[in-house]
Amino acid sequence: MKNRFRHLLPIVCVLSWATMTACDSGDIYPDETPNEQGISIEASFILRNTEVFPVEYNLIFGVFAEGGTAPLASVNVIQPNGDTPLSLKLENIPEEATSVKLGMVNSGRQLLYIFFEQSIDDSNPSQIVIPETEIDLLPYDRIQQLVFQQYNCVSCHQGTTGSAGLLLTQGLSYPQLVNTPSTLSDKPRVTPSDPENSFLLDVLSQQEAVGYPHTGLITRSEDLAMLRIWIEKGCPQ
Ligand code: HEC
Repeated sequence: MKNRFRHLLPIVCVLSWATMTACDSGDIYPDETPNEQGISIEASFILRNTEVFPVEYNLIFGVFAEGGTAPLASVNVIQPNGDTPLSLKLENIPEEATSVKLGMVNSGRQLLYIFFEQSIDDSNPSQIVIPETEIDLLPYDRIQQLVFQQYNCVSCHQGTTGSAGLLLTQGLSYPQLVNTPSTLSDKPRVTPSDPENSFLLDVLSQQEAVGYPHTGLITRSEDLAMLRIWIEKGCPQ
């Protein structure tokens, strides 16, 4: 046995010498290690209710770290033409990213509202493909968060009665507004599909509508416009 393999020894030595020299010589070889460009994410969304596509805010597709309020990497979404599906792609996403979101950010890139969210777990392959998903840009929750909470209407319209007997807190605002009589006007607070017959819009846009003027409380015109569009569309929930 021993003798049979003896003649192989010089060959093994030459081979190992050759590889060492190759490494030291600085020659460049094709990179056969898996590509280290990180994960890429592709998604396709179909947007509904594009009349309330954000204008003053930005709609972004981005990745976020755990608990992060600003994206680690993102692309701005441009308003699509009608029902054309949006195709979005993010590449080389940072390792700290734990979720991917479609959401609205303010000018400071802080996340204000999330329309779609999916977590990125470590076992994911290098490419994540999110299948075509429908996104409603006008869920009632957007009104709750971006109007009643963001402009702090709830600071007065909460508790057991609320100012003018109106509660705008989560879960209560819808029934308190829609098809509900006003305590101050002959018009109902909100009449579905009839903005002219909805006292809420008068209160927010006419100085004299109520004793405590509400004009100027909503500082972004698109938020006020969203309320009118929501009423025109019959107050979807
Ligand atoms: C600082 C307290 C305060 C804040 C903040 C406030 N309101 Fe009011 N709201 C009142 C008071 C007081 C009245 C009643 C005024 C009156 O009696 O003439 C009222 C009345 C109303 C009414 C009329 C209710 C009815 O029955 O007709 C609506 C609608 C309303 N507010 C909506 C809002 C919205 C929406 C916001 C946030 C953008 C808001 N309010 C923020 C104090 C407030």
